[in-house]
Amino acid sequence: PTITYVLPDGTEQQMDVPCGQSVMDGSVRNNLPGIVAECGGSCSCATCHVFLEHAPEGAFDDAMTEETDLVEFLDDAAPNSRLSCQLIVSEACEGARVRVSTSNG
Ligand code: FES
Repeated sequence: PTITYVLPDGTEQQMDVPCGQSVMDGSVRNNLPGIVAECGGSCSCATCHVFLEHAPEGAFDDAMTEETDLVEFLDDAAPNSRLSCQLIVSEACEGARVRVSTSNG
């Protein structure tokens, strides 16, 4: 499915991310800037912060406690904040759009 990434410089990149990979994987594996993912996807670093600007119906599961606890402490946290390593891509994600935080380090 195609995911649109709005990068820290405001430009957009569309990436075809295989099902089963995370939105973080889709960024890191394509060398997109802005998602640092220090912990490699184990939901402990919060340097993969994105704003979920558009999610098709049923695209992503709600955040679990581990994720919301981390997001809470981010300076630029917003109601649509998510950790992209926890956003697992499926067919339902076609057309999803995330804006990468400019504060991921
Ligand atoms: Fe570390 Fe997502 S990659 S929390």
